[in-house]
Amino acid sequence: MDKHHYYQNAVQCVEAEIDFVEVTYRELKGKPARKLREDFCGTAQTACEWIKRHQDNHAYGIDLDPLVLQWGEQNNLSELSANQRQRVRLLNEDVMTASVSNLDAVLAMNFSYFIFMERGLMIRYFRSVLNSLNNEGVLFLDAFGGYEAAKELTEERECDGFTYIWEQASFNPINSQMQCYIHFVTDEGVRMEKAFDYYWRLWTLPEITEMLLTAGFKTADVFWEGTDEKTGEGDGEYSKSVVGTADAGWVCYIVAEK
Ligand SMILES: C[S@@+](CC[C@H](N)C(=O)[O-])C[C@H]1O[C@@H](n2cnc3c(N)ncnc32)[C@H](O)[C@@H]1O
Repeated sequence: MDKHHYYQNAVQCVEAEIDFVEVTYRELKGKPARKLREDFCGTAQTACEWIKRHQDNHAYGIDLDPLVLQWGEQNNLSELSANQRQRVRLLNEDVMTASVSNLDAVLAMNFSYFIFMERGLMIRYFRSVLNSLNNEGVLFLDAFGGYEAAKELTEERECDGFTYIWEQASFNPINSQMQCYIHFVTDEGVRMEKAFDYYWRLWTLPEITEMLLTAGFKTADVFWEGTDEKTGEGDGEYSKSVVGTADAGWVCYIVAEK
């Protein structure tokens, strides 16, 4: 069993993520983004997708864990051509002090920045990103919420050859901190308990956008998903919005311009 392989299959959809980044950056700046940093990159699947999109694209992946970076090198970067491989670098660094700057775009996806529990720390992170961006740089984040986000619950989803299990094991309303786990069970019944472990603060959207503006970003906008009229489900199209729907569970993007 390989937990990173299961994670990439069950959790990430890097094509849709990079589609959003490409289109939104171009709409905002009237030109394509080229130099991107993926913070909390894990296996760097997103950075690799960026590299594949254009021959002038460059990507940097930042993660504290050398083992996950090694997995990314062996399984994702190894799939790139020699030319593509030269345009991506994985750095075993802390996102707070990451050494790459003059960036068009910084991404912190899958809620990874929710690990910063206090306002002061989060603003420090946003300021360090601001300093790493060039004058036309943009920070892309995602966020989740809804009235089920603060519930203790377990959800299962069938994937190809295994079941993905998301557990919100505890939520403390006093400090909004929550313990979540990802478990996997193969179709043969082998269970991988607590394959991933997240201790997070469940931040609200106004808190996040206010902290971005406090950190010095010029804008901090929420991009909300549209609704498919036939199914009533999300349609995968995100647009800048000031009113959302009070869904049980939602995921959105936040876009902040320097
Ligand atoms: C939820 S995973 C994100 C994986 C991937 N980016 C995604 O979108 O699914 C979080 C990653 O953040 C890394 N991490 C946690 N704190 C960090 C920090 N201060 N600096 C850099 N990486 C950090 C962990 O090692 C872990 O690989």
